[in-house]
Amino acid sequence: MIEIYFASSSSGMVRQFAERLGRPAHDLGDRDVRRSVPEGPWVLITPSYKTGNPDNDTIPEPVRRFLRDPVTRRRMVGIMGSGNRNFGSHYQAAARTIARISGRPVLFEFELQGTQWDVADARKVLDELEVALEAAHSA
Ligand SMILES: Cc1cc2nc3c(=O)[nH]c(=O)nc-3n(C[C@H](O)[C@H](O)[C@H](O)COP(=O)(O)O)c2cc1C
Repeated sequence: MIEIYFASSSSGMVRQFAERLGRPAHDLGDRDVRRSVPEGPWVLITPSYKTGNPDNDTIPEPVRRFLRDPVTRRRMVGIMGSGNRNFGSHYQAAARTIARISGRPVLFEFELQGTQWDVADARKVLDELEVALEAAHSA
């Protein structure tokens, strides 16, 4: 089963979304989770945080750390992003940057904690991806 690994700040918007997907959802704020390696395919859910540093880096540090492991990176099958359109050209910058670097797709984007329709759509995307992965493996 595709499992979820997410980063979320104290406002907890990504957490709210991740915990409504009906799948195991692991919090990268937890050090033990960050140090673990997923045993199978997994999807990252990340917010974007524009820091104002010279690189305008938006990838949360726990995500950066978790992705250092090559096996972890290889098993990541896609990314979902939470953002806020008020950030203009930086909207979803973290999810989109990770997708570009990793060659994995952005599977779904939503604002803040997402709506109930967002949750339903994301569940569908994950279910379909799972079917596709299983078909690829049994081929
Ligand atoms: C300081 C700050 C910077 C942010 N920068 C961005 C950004 O660059 N791009 C974006 O799409 N959203 C940005 N956001 C919006 C958050 O990514 C969004 O609210 C997200 O849902 C937060 O998830 P969390 O509560 O789980 O941490 C920013 C929010 C804050 C408070």
